[in-house]
Amino acid sequence: MVPYYDDHYPPKYNKDLMLLREDLIGELQAINQYEAHAAQAGDPQVRALFMEIADDEKHHVADLLKMINRLDPVQARLIRERVCGYYKYDAKDNG
Ligand SMILES: [Fe+2]
Repeated sequence: MVPYYDDHYPPKYNKDLMLLREDLIGELQAINQYEAHAAQAGDPQVRALFMEIADDEKHHVADLLKMINRLDPVQARLIRERVCGYYKYDAKDNG
């Protein structure tokens, strides 16, 4: 496996990065909650509102990830390679 770090890794403590990661957790939990409530709601307009809000939270996830990538080059590289499709799958690499 190719290392994702160098002599400067792990990075020194970054309060902003920690805050962004904590908020990312909250946004993902919010998506789950709104989708679960949409599934439970009886009124179609209430269901639609929950789904609309869930979609808003997905925008927030993307915004937070963009900022996390700006501050954490290792995370940015992994997302670029493994999420955006540049990663060449190697059966020996389970990481
Ligand atoms: Fe949000």
